[in-house]
Amino acid sequence: MVLTKRPEGPPDASCFALDKQPVTELGAGEVLIEVDHLSIDPFIRTSLNSESYHTPVPIGSTVTALGVGRIIESRAPGLEPGDGVFGPLGIQTIARLPGGILKKVDEKRAPLTAYLGAIGLTSGMTSYFGVREVGAVAPGDTVVVSGAAGAVGSLAGQIAQIEGGRAIGIAGGADKVDYVVGELGFAACIDYKNEDVAARLRELAPDGVDVYFDNVGGEMLDVLLDQIRERARVVICGAISQYDNMDAVRGPSLYLRLAERHARMEGFAVTHFAPLFAEAEEQLTRWLEQGKLALREHVEYGVEKFPVALRTLFDGGHIGKLLLCPGRTAP
Ligand SMILES: NC(=O)c1ccc[n+]([C@@H]2O[C@H](COP(=O)([O-])OP(=O)(O)OC[C@H]3O[C@@H](n4cnc5c(N)ncnc54)[C@H](OP(=O)(O)O)[C@@H]3O)[C@@H](O)[C@H]2O)c1
Repeated sequence: MVLTKRPEGPPDASCFALDKQPVTELGAGEVLIEVDHLSIDPFIRTSLNSESYHTPVPIGSTVTALGVGRIIESRAPGLEPGDGVFGPLGIQTIARLPGGILKKVDEKRAPLTAYLGAIGLTSGMTSYFGVREVGAVAPGDTVVVSGAAGAVGSLAGQIAQIEGGRAIGIAGGADKVDYVVGELGFAACIDYKNEDVAARLRELAPDGVDVYFDNVGGEMLDVLLDQIRERARVVICGAISQYDNMDAVRGPSLYLRLAERHARMEGFAVTHFAPLFAEAEEQLTRWLEQGKLALREHVEYGVEKFPVALRTLFDGGHIGKLLLCPGRTAP
């Protein structure tokens, strides 16, 4: 799936085209991978712009995406046909890549798709570092998580509760609220599409919020800033409400609450914590094995479905982790 033009606002199918290329002979150090599942991440949207924090996709090139797959053929040391790998596979059915940029995964401990979800870089690891290193969640903290029914949000709230916090989610719609409370075990969840978030939050957290884990940005950030406690931590994980219009990002107007309440706001990218990746992966895998982390998967099938999958991420049409299975049709 290649980028044919840069989107202005929400991308639609006219920005992309399917391009069929023959698989050519592998060079030394390269591997051929059958792509199993791709992670549909918000950074894919910003990488379609001509300037982006994440490397922009050149016009005519394969759209960037992280994924898991299985090696079909290898000329790279340490990687054999049949091995499961994680890496920047791109929106395609077969990937030919240098073996050195791939990570072999341990399928005895977790299924392939868990390496995109509960223990994946852009979901589990992001939540782990955001809650522990940036939010410094401590026992008894009230932790509010926006985008709570999505991949990062689902895991951030569960990890906050493992750390002894009380998680309150914010998500759009009754089905998502049921999932967040019923399946994930958050203490509560506010339906921002049908409820007054400020009023509900005052009921649920009358003493204020210790940690706000923000995935959404925009106006919601102000609603939360108004209700933080002394010494609160506001974690800027992302701002999905702003990614379709990065030239005119709307920031918070109530930032002086940080000064009034001796609080701090700190952003991060998961890659800032690279030295701790191995530790995080081990801990997340253990929690998964112990049944402490749940995450639903929503899978779209067929590489041609990529534009639909990308829109689904922004329209909130999925619960849990959004994946694209490029090479198979729906079961
Ligand atoms: N800092 C890092 O290194 C890092 C790494 C990975 C991801 N992230 C960030 O983490 C956040 C979540 O990513 P994800 O992959 O887990 O996506 P996700 O939460 O699975 O999906 C995005 C969700 O955002 C909500 N949303 C979309 N537009 C919205 C709007 N205008 N207002 C409020 N909610 C909106 C939708 O849920 P509703 O139906 O509830 O609206 C949607 O389901 C993103 O901001 C992403 O950029 C950061």
